[in-house]
Amino acid sequence: MSIRFDDRVAIVTGAGGGLGRHYALELARRGARVVVNDLGGDRSGTGASDAAQAVVEEIRATGGTAMANGASVADYDQMAEMVARTVEAWSGVHILINNAGVLRDKSFAKMDPADFAFVVQVHLLGSAYATKACWETFRAQNYGRVLMTSSSSGLFGNFGQANYAAAKLGIAGLARTLHLEGAKHDIRVNTIAPTAGTRMTEGLFPDVAFAAFAPEKVAPAALYLVSEDAPSGQIVGAGAGVVQASYITLTPGVALHGDALSPEGVAHHWDAITDRSGEIVPGTGAEQAMLIGRTLQADR
Ligand code: NAI
Repeated sequence: MSIRFDDRVAIVTGAGGGLGRHYALELARRGARVVVNDLGGDRSGTGASDAAQAVVEEIRATGGTAMANGASVADYDQMAEMVARTVEAWSGVHILINNAGVLRDKSFAKMDPADFAFVVQVHLLGSAYATKACWETFRAQNYGRVLMTSSSSGLFGNFGQANYAAAKLGIAGLARTLHLEGAKHDIRVNTIAPTAGTRMTEGLFPDVAFAAFAPEKVAPAALYLVSEDAPSGQIVGAGAGVVQASYITLTPGVALHGDALSPEGVAHHWDAITDRSGEIVPGTGAEQAMLIGRTLQADR
């Protein structure tokens, strides 16, 4: 059965170009009314333009319904106003894709603390602000689909992106908790870690790879993750047509007693502590304590 978004209202942040533009085009093609949000600045978040309006015109040209919004995700009041206008115009909002982002790369040694704060503000707080602005509507209508955008940099690390990586892993943590808090109201929250040739990755990929990693090849995973039958709480990698699942795991560990409960004991047991047999993927934070209990019990 084809996945459609008729009668759904979607907000895509940072949709004036790159991945967000493709998400917006595809959502509209499949029936959604789409708010195309974008400040329209450059890659580092400086300046502004009418990038959002250009995508709205593209959508309208193919018979879709869209409106532009030039608010900054980094400002909670602007996000609240964007959502209020959306609800006023289209009587609800059902889907939010937190996609807006900027880069201010430098090795940590050379990074200006202001650039650390700015990147965290746009990515992490921006995702929290836009989601918070929609949350009450999602709860009241017992329906919401949220897609957060993380990155391999956040999940696994990347030289020169301490600010970005911190924000991107923070986003995955935010998503896991909102997934738990939203479940009662059928609010499903997933995270995508895309890999795509956009202005953000320009110069990082060789030309051949840039084409193979076309942003439209990420859109199918993103759209599935905000569809009616979407899973929730998942972290999904997507690039060049490959779709992956990523997990944060925990080993059973080792119970240390007496003299062994010492830095020397930890060093001595390091191989067993990091042995991945019996590793679990905790569904909630409480499962760490439960696994500790199990390890203690097995140790008796
Ligand atoms: P992009 O630079 O084309 O798209 C980001 C968009 O966000 C831009 O259009 C920009 O104007 C907008 N934006 C920036 N600050 C904003 C603000 N304060 N308010 C509203 N809009 C704002 O880059 P791309 O690659 O499409 O990135 C989309 C998302 O995917 C970002 O969150 C990025 O970090 C993430 N990502 C991309 C990867 C890739 O390989 N392209 C890899 C991992 C993550």
